[in-house]
Amino acid sequence: MQALVTHVLGARPNFMKAAPVIRALGAAGVEQVLIHTGQHYDARMSDVFFTDLGLPEPDVNLQVGSGLHGEQTAAVIAGVERELMERRPSLLVVYGDVNSTLGAALAAAKLHVPIAHVEAGLRSFDNTMPEEINRRLTDQLCKLLFVTSPEAIGYLASEGVASDGVHFVGNTMIDTLVACLPQLDAARVRAMHGLPERYMVATLHRPFNVDSPEAAALLTKAMHQAADEAPVIMPVHPRGRARFEAAGLAEHPGIRMCEALGYLEFMSLVRGAAAAITDSAGVQEETTFLRVPCLTLRPVTERPVTVTSGSNRLVRVDELASAVHDALAAGPYRGELPALWDGLSGPRIARVIIGWLASQPLR
Ligand code: UD1
Repeated sequence: MQALVTHVLGARPNFMKAAPVIRALGAAGVEQVLIHTGQHYDARMSDVFFTDLGLPEPDVNLQVGSGLHGEQTAAVIAGVERELMERRPSLLVVYGDVNSTLGAALAAAKLHVPIAHVEAGLRSFDNTMPEEINRRLTDQLCKLLFVTSPEAIGYLASEGVASDGVHFVGNTMIDTLVACLPQLDAARVRAMHGLPERYMVATLHRPFNVDSPEAAALLTKAMHQAADEAPVIMPVHPRGRARFEAAGLAEHPGIRMCEALGYLEFMSLVRGAAAAITDSAGVQEETTFLRVPCLTLRPVTERPVTVTSGSNRLVRVDELASAVHDALAAGPYRGELPALWDGLSGPRIARVIIGWLASQPLR
């Protein structure tokens, strides 16, 4: 079978980025195949996003599951290689910066399958985060690079990436948010979780915040101080659950830990929140769009536009309580939103891909 465009998705943040591209290519009648690597496999980390976002069922699930970086990435490479040899697509599309992104790109590059990267060129310049390694290496292998933010164009040029493949298209994660806005019912979801009108939402899952008992204990202390300001609801990624439970996070009466949530339920909570506390990448952008003050527990961000044109502030764990106090006092962000965050990035990408496919020699 020859599919024109094959998409590889693997982990939670990929799904929101891919849905608008798949929809726009589908509307244009492009033949597509969807490979799910299975990096995320719990119903709450994967299936619920396919339902919420109206994503088509994957054509194949490689079931790579969890593991060390080497094991997980190797399983993605081997599985995607097998699929690409069988299907011989004209283009592989990968998203974001997770292990599935890099694994799929490596498999395709060795088979000379051209690659497009959605969310290319973001840089934190912090190689201690696996995502930075994944995105730098992926970008080196791509023919088409779709960037969400203008500074990415300069970073790619300085890394020797040919400029004719680089397209500034805006942010497909924001497309998904725009498309789902009518379905985000903050009052209903807040009531479902028994929250008062003024509450905060928190997500913390990065290895440097959750993988050691010491880090989890420091974070727990800071979260307890934050919860003195307003109640906090915290959907917990499976990665951090045991550590946070052991550190006594839920022992503060203002903290509600719950299971990881689906897209619509989580974004409804963010929409209604007085502030967000996070170490996630996407939440920094989603809060900017929704104008919710965001405190990011990371030393650096690869999304600086959320700080310069948004409500995001990078904070250390010992600064969290005072930052929460200030954010609640300041209220929603009122400035300009970043360029091209208009809900039309998926169609822009589809136009470039269709033009590129038309320029290729017949197979
Ligand atoms: C991955 C991405 C990260 C992204 C995050 C979003 C990489 C390097 N990291 O991190 O950029 O922000 O997804 O969620 O790709 N687990 C489950 N069920 C699941 C998935 C994971 O229980 O469905 C648990 C397992 O214990 C696993 C751990 O979470 O070992 C980590 O999962 P993994 O996919 O390796 O990385 P994430 O921390 O989810």
